[in-house]
Amino acid sequence: MSIIAPPEDMTAYREQLSELLEEQNAIILAHNYQPTWIKELADFTGDSLYLSQRARDTDATTIIFAGVRFMAETAKILSPDKGVFLPAEDAECSLADSITSAELIEWKRRYPGAIVVAYVNTSAAVKALADVCCTSANAVEIVGSIPPDREVLFLPDQFLGAYVQRVTGHPGMHIWMGECHVHADITPQHLADKMAQNPLATLMIHPECGCTTPALYQLADASGGPTSQRVRILSTNQMIEEAKRSTATHVLVATEIGIMSDLINANPAVRFEAVNPRARCPYMNRVTPERLVETLRDRIGEVHVDQEIAAQARLAVERMVDPGLRAWG
Ligand code: 13P
Ligand code: SF4
Repeated sequence: MSIIAPPEDMTAYREQLSELLEEQNAIILAHNYQPTWIKELADFTGDSLYLSQRARDTDATTIIFAGVRFMAETAKILSPDKGVFLPAEDAECSLADSITSAELIEWKRRYPGAIVVAYVNTSAAVKALADVCCTSANAVEIVGSIPPDREVLFLPDQFLGAYVQRVTGHPGMHIWMGECHVHADITPQHLADKMAQNPLATLMIHPECGCTTPALYQLADASGGPTSQRVRILSTNQMIEEAKRSTATHVLVATEIGIMSDLINANPAVRFEAVNPRARCPYMNRVTPERLVETLRDRIGEVHVDQEIAAQARLAVERMVDPGLRAWG
């Protein structure tokens, strides 16, 4: 993989962007996995849930999404009247690609009446077939709110699905066997090696990771269960919050490495170390400062979601950001 590096002088980009943002009543949202120099140019940084809420609530009329396509599409579904732009046209997601709408139609046919819980990392066409969307920050809360006598189709991430099933104990869950190639490549072996080298370190693990095996959960149980201080399974924003209050000296972090700078900034007294230092998402790293400027200046890369699909997906996405809308009739 090519080494990515910040442009030498960011001043010119900063100045151009601040003029363009004001002129166009625009904001930049950046996911925690974006490179540091992109996050520094953003108005808001955060995880998928937080950024969806900011996209819904902003008074700005233009949103530049420094992230990947499903995030920008989610913003467009929530705010159809805003212009939403993706500054890297080829910023896709291997997890979102692991289920198609045709596959979901067939899966639903086999489980009539099941509640479909779609991770936000899905295409708009898949969301249009879902009852509710979730993120890693609220998947447990959402599945936990579904009555145990209802069947649940959880998609597309197998590792997140297994984690949610374990924590909620929901007896009716069926899990799609998709994965994110970046997180799947944070393997049990990577984790075992790092833990052997650093036996006193605590762990922060994103639930999409391939290292979330029964052995990891046994370790969590042995050190206090799902809320164990030694092993925390967390979304990226939850990792940053945990970092701020951490009293640990050394924390092993299993997720995409773009977040490492946020953790270090959140608590410089702690040594944060990546479980797999090569876990970099190629799609998240396609946004550059030049592309941000070009997107705003030339208004290129606007995201369009078919109106009918957006209308069908809206309730599922609104349920993700608004607990008051969750009812499972
Ligand atoms: P969160 O932003 O919900 O932590 O998810 C991580 C992710 O994979 C986004 O692509
Ligand atoms: Fe998709 Fe994985 Fe990249 Fe997140 S890290 S955008 S899930 S490919």
